[in-house]
Amino acid sequence: MTNLTIKIGQTVFKNPVFVASGTFGYGTEINDLTDISALGAIITKSITLHPREGNPPPRTIETLGGMINSIGLANMGVDNYIRDMLPLYHQFPTKIIVNIAGSTMEEYLQVLKKFESVSSNITGYEINISCPNVKEGGMAFGVNADFTARLTEQLRSLTQRLLIVKLSPNVTDITQIGKAAQRAGADAVSAINTLVGMSIDSTTRKSNIYTTYGGLSGPAIKPVALACVHKLFLKLKIPVIGIGGITNVSDAIEFALAGAVAFQVGTANFRDPDIGRKIVYELDDYCTQNNLKYSDLKGQVIRYQ
Ligand code: FUM
Repeated sequence: MTNLTIKIGQTVFKNPVFVASGTFGYGTEINDLTDISALGAIITKSITLHPREGNPPPRTIETLGGMINSIGLANMGVDNYIRDMLPLYHQFPTKIIVNIAGSTMEEYLQVLKKFESVSSNITGYEINISCPNVKEGGMAFGVNADFTARLTEQLRSLTQRLLIVKLSPNVTDITQIGKAAQRAGADAVSAINTLVGMSIDSTTRKSNIYTTYGGLSGPAIKPVALACVHKLFLKLKIPVIGIGGITNVSDAIEFALAGAVAFQVGTANFRDPDIGRKIVYELDDYCTQNNLKYSDLKGQVIRYQ
């Protein structure tokens, strides 16, 4: 196998293929469906201070080239997670990055403090300031550069672990939010979370999503994600992790050319939970055949101007 390792901050990952938050559970449920040891990292579903039921159904709908979700950050809450899930990561075959969300700045800080107060082998945190499906917090934070900087700074002061800020595409200029995260000490940004979308049944005239709007993901958003990654790559010094409609090795290469150091496979996991592992092997073949590393492609898109 080619050397597919990549580095983000001080952390070395065995390869750049991660699975995205909300598409792979807590990372422990999918053992029978794929070989998780093949993956570079698993990003957990978002963890909040208190357990959350999430939004009422219907909360997912397939759309052309993707899907809309409005899960509403359903999760078991940090205390249950620490008690029940963290021990399962002992000698886990890949790195775990915990995704954290909150309704207030204080909630994010409390969740992170709780993780830092126990012994565990989690690698770091992805900070979700970009969920479009909650009334308080979520995307409302991720569209505000000042909030992003203040939150990142506070979180940075609480942990030496890897700190990744997950950005929303639902902004005028994603690089302003990325710069705020960078200034405040983030090790990396991940981009993009979902685009606000809507789906209607023309026969019943009903919204297909209980909350009316939800987050659009999948191949339909890949061009938007590539543009965001490229803009961030040009403006930031910290690494950019690409997310948005990746379903095969060609998509993965496009994200590298746009400037991504690594990428997250998301919606494609719902169709094939083994897709991340397959992309690792395809990427290995591609790199071997072309005698290069994934990182050699970073930002190498050939532009007309
Ligand atoms: O509704 C949700 O739980 C989605 C979260 C996200 O997009 O970050």
